[in-house]
Amino acid sequence: MLKPAAGRLIIDGTLGGGGHSEALLEAGATVVGIDRDPRALAAATARLARFGERFSTRKGEFGDASALIEGQVDGLLLDLGVSSPQLDEAQRGFSFMNDGPLDMRMSDEGLTAAELIEATEERDLADLIWKYGEERFSRQIARALKTQAPKTTFQAVEAVKSSVPRRAWPKEINVATRTFQALRIATNRELENLEAALAALPALLRPGGVAAIISFHSLEDRPVKHTFRELCGEGPDDAPRGLPVITVKTAAFRALTHKPITASASEASLNPRARSAKLRAIEKLP
Ligand SMILES: C[S@@+](CC[C@H](N)C(=O)[O-])C[C@H]1O[C@@H](n2cnc3c(N)ncnc32)[C@H](O)[C@@H]1O
Repeated sequence: MLKPAAGRLIIDGTLGGGGHSEALLEAGATVVGIDRDPRALAAATARLARFGERFSTRKGEFGDASALIEGQVDGLLLDLGVSSPQLDEAQRGFSFMNDGPLDMRMSDEGLTAAELIEATEERDLADLIWKYGEERFSRQIARALKTQAPKTTFQAVEAVKSSVPRRAWPKEINVATRTFQALRIATNRELENLEAALAALPALLRPGGVAAIISFHSLEDRPVKHTFRELCGEGPDDAPRGLPVITVKTAAFRALTHKPITASASEASLNPRARSAKLRAIEKLP
């Protein structure tokens, strides 16, 4: 969808291990990889060195893409969330399965999740667990986090377990999943960054340029879907039935995906983390 080819400049806003960038470079495109994680930048730089000047990197947040890159580009790719190396390494503090410091920062800057808990009022902490984790025991969990002040991932899991009645523990997911998701989103200001990138899109892309975004949960997918619909001049899909929908005829974009593209059953079985991925793409009209 990004139409990678010689002469096309594409931003990979979530460089990570460089898998997507490698595919774009192999197809001939010039790629600028952005990541806030210095370890990801180092690994991808080594992996992609053979492409010479066609590949370069910027350390920073994709929400600042317009400031990190001069002028307009032909493509923007975002593959949201954390990477497998970040998730799997206990020391990074993302996983409730492995014990490590309660860090959760993708970058090496800013407050850790443990510091965020300390710095946030109980009421605000409850609100963010509710909003970013869609966790109905948010108030009880916020109270436990404030009083127990966890410094490690396992201490945080204990705080969650102690505040959710045993009979209410979810069957499909770990009892700490939603709280960990909320803390991670808040620590990394993930949704603010996504909003900033979406707001910058119209000016960032050249005519014919494509934005492709892969999201992993509804809090990410919702703003992508709504912004893309708006840019394509489509009415909201939740408009009440029977009411006339006014379509803006001056849309500057067209949708390349009318429904999000998801992983096939065979891909999901090879790569279970792809199960919840949704890809949406739009193209700026010439
Ligand atoms: C899911 S991984 C991307 C994997 C990559 N597509 C690949 O092929 O290896 C997401 C990466 O984006 C980075 N990231 C997430 N949010 C970011 C943001 N707002 N700004 C910059 N980098 C971000 C993370 O540090 C992580 O390395």
